Amino acid sequence: MCGIVAGVTQRNIVPMLLDGLKRLEYRGYDSCGVAVLQQGAPRRVRTLARVRALETDVTAEALDGSTGVAHTRWATHGVPAIDNAHPIFSRDEIAVVHNGIIENYEELRESLREQGYVFNSQTDTEVIAHLIHSHYCGDLLAAVHNTTRVLRGAYAIAVICRDEPRRVIGARQGSPLVVGLGDDSAFLASDTFALANCARRFIYLEDGDIADIVHGEVRIIDPDGHEVARDIRAVAKHEDDAELGAYRHYMQKEIFEQPLAVARTAGHVHSLDTEPFGNAAPEMLTGIERVLMLGCGTSHYAALTARGWFERLAGVTAHAEISSEFRYRDHVKERGTLVVPISQSGETADTLAALRYAQSMGEALTLTICNVAASAMVRQSRWAFITQAGPEIGVASTKAFTTQLAALFLLALTIGRRRGRISDDEAVVYLRQLAGLPDALRSVLAREPQIMAWAEELHGKENALFLGRGLHFPIALEGALKLKEISYIHAEGYPAGELKHGPLALVTDAMPVMVTAPNDVLLDKLKSNVQEVCARGGQLYVIADADTQFTSSPGMRVIQMPAYYGPLSPVLHVIAFQLLAYHVACLRGTDVDKPRNLAKSVTVE
Ligand code: F6R
Repeated sequence: MCGIVAGVTQRNIVPMLLDGLKRLEYRGYDSCGVAVLQQGAPRRVRTLARVRALETDVTAEALDGSTGVAHTRWATHGVPAIDNAHPIFSRDEIAVVHNGIIENYEELRESLREQGYVFNSQTDTEVIAHLIHSHYCGDLLAAVHNTTRVLRGAYAIAVICRDEPRRVIGARQGSPLVVGLGDDSAFLASDTFALANCARRFIYLEDGDIADIVHGEVRIIDPDGHEVARDIRAVAKHEDDAELGAYRHYMQKEIFEQPLAVARTAGHVHSLDTEPFGNAAPEMLTGIERVLMLGCGTSHYAALTARGWFERLAGVTAHAEISSEFRYRDHVKERGTLVVPISQSGETADTLAALRYAQSMGEALTLTICNVAASAMVRQSRWAFITQAGPEIGVASTKAFTTQLAALFLLALTIGRRRGRISDDEAVVYLRQLAGLPDALRSVLAREPQIMAWAEELHGKENALFLGRGLHFPIALEGALKLKEISYIHAEGYPAGELKHGPLALVTDAMPVMVTAPNDVLLDKLKSNVQEVCARGGQLYVIADADTQFTSSPGMRVIQMPAYYGPLSPVLHVIAFQLLAYHVACLRGTDVDKPRNLAKSVTVE
């Protein structure tokens, strides 16, 4: 998704802007650019290539100035093209970078054309630049304020102006924007991570806020034009989690970090005396009869997996809703509902909107499970459980998923105990399994060579089916999602019992069928489904628990997992599918960490 870095410093700001853009690369983008005020005018360099290429161009153009804006663009309005890349100018006087979507841009564009403005891009951003220009009478803050009054939609913007060389203005509505405070400088960014090398203290702007940065001084203005105080939060230096180290890709590194990430997330809960949800637990969990989980993509699959845990361990009704669907449905409120948004980033526009919609319908008990403590969802929600995955840079989610599962398992367990659904003895056994999960995950990671051999066979295919049942059906969905998003092989996940209701028609000896086979109560049913594939000549690749008696035979390859790991078994099996997708993608030569068309944090609807 798009990224913003901007600021005013005492020296040449270009290296800081480029460093920020590099840090934002993980979010996915298709063009990037930077503009500074230099010799009385904004000057910019833009490229459809990577930030590294932008750096070379910037050096060649000798871009140098202490006030600037920079951007990585993920195309929404207008194709990826130089003319559409940000910063967008108005008459060589105003430069704007923008995240989000302006919904009324067409009507605004018409009225600006009538005023004589010429449009050089297909972007909605250009209306913002021209509007600011049309309102400008010597005060950039006033011009931005008047502009935001007529914009509809979601945006975060940073703006500089030829006539005010030591000033940058930021504004947000719906899309994230933070102010970073340095020693003698101040910055704006869509993500604190972008400013890791230049700021330790941050102001998280609220919707409607405008930040006015002049030299190193910052003022925040609310939508009525009044100056407001906002908390300044210290953020510890981001650890070296963001360094690739010995790994070839971030995705590979993050797959291998999972034992540690899961241990950090749930490892502190050793005994029944530890309350994983802290002081909030009694108020939050007493009287819960229903859990309503909201999420997108992989986070939705975490919810689908956990649905089974809530039903089995806690005896409560559980719904796993796709955020973009839920937010437009007619929600029926029921007493005792705990709303649980699940998100790696905490900024996903649909999940944030779904949470707000649930709140607007009277749902007061909200608990966000999230990997980013200062995110919009965490701030919007009444309670939060922060997963400890560390920064996830690869676009394809891996360690965020397994840590979400660890958190959701703890939640199901905690509600189950409160409701008397599981005894203390049973709870101790489950906690022991949770504590042993990191080692179990390591033993799955040790199967990487076998999975690489499968990848050799599979990387030439164009289709694949993934099958699972019960708690492992969402793992089939997640396996298919991982494969399609990074290798571009078309893959579908199905509940194995659904095969004969349609997808079996696709099964020939050219169709690889991946199966996740735990030794659970559905094993015999799953074996029958596997036979249906065998009988049609399908090529089976089975991830099977050691105690399932699945063995390799003609048409069926088997990787033996450890013995059945109880209800936490999905967490083990997904690792094998993550590794498979990763190695297939490597063999196909795709851009594993930044798959085409995708973005890390989807902050537009
Ligand atoms: C897939 C993937 C996406 C995200 C989805 C939600 O690998 O990463 O499907 O899971 O965009 O993102 P968050 O969890 O940040 O809300």
